[in-house]
Amino acid sequence: MKLIICDSYEEGCLEGAKIILDVVKSNPKAVLGLATGSTPIGVYKEMVKDFKDNHTSYKDVISYNLDEYFGLEGTHPQSYRYFMEQHLFQYLDIDPANVHVPLGHGDIEKNADDYNAMLDKDVRDIQLLGIGSNGHIGFNEPGESFDSITHVVDLKESTIQDNAKLFFDGDIDAVPKKAITMGIKNIMDAKKILLMAFGINKRYAIKELVEGTMREEVPATILQKHDDVIVIVDKEAAIDLLK
Ligand code: GLP
Repeated sequence: MKLIICDSYEEGCLEGAKIILDVVKSNPKAVLGLATGSTPIGVYKEMVKDFKDNHTSYKDVISYNLDEYFGLEGTHPQSYRYFMEQHLFQYLDIDPANVHVPLGHGDIEKNADDYNAMLDKDVRDIQLLGIGSNGHIGFNEPGESFDSITHVVDLKESTIQDNAKLFFDGDIDAVPKKAITMGIKNIMDAKKILLMAFGINKRYAIKELVEGTMREEVPATILQKHDDVIVIVDKEAAIDLLK
């Protein structure tokens, strides 16, 4: 695991974007695993800027998002599909047919099976990840099996609270209580993993990820087993490391 400690969110996002852009530039048919949440917004800003300045093409790039809220259609402003359109896809030349976000409505079991089949076919060259304050990745909450594949989950109270603060104007009742997410095995199948975390709220998750014992109670600790992981954090998220 390679750890990069940055001075600011902006610097971290620039570093993160460079890593993703290297993948896209070296392989125009790259398969990207993408994430939502407040963390990757700055990375997507850098990718959009690069697209405008350098015209890096996404014409043949394929993308797979990690997760989606249960019950929200892609047109809902808090859905992750909508988030991706707003922050990234609308600005790039990516083919909409190559964009995949799990479907959080309709026949969920079938959606999950279809997503797993597609992920098996299109191995991701890189998977971008944020991390929950409790160590969740995607929406794989504490206790999730390391062998899990795309499935429906019940969100933990702490995750609902974190996401209410950031995206639902603090309205806990507005946050869906379930989600569909790539499983931990799907995440580990990516060739390279880039995890980013900023701010004091991530101190526990980062301490466990880097120095903790690998265990299902802290899902992100599985990444210790992957042989190509880059972790980008700021000093606040890294505050408990080596203490
Ligand atoms: C959500 C997402 C995760 C994300 C996490 C952290 O629960 N499902 O993929 O990593 O939140 O979000 P943020 O980046 O806003 O702190």
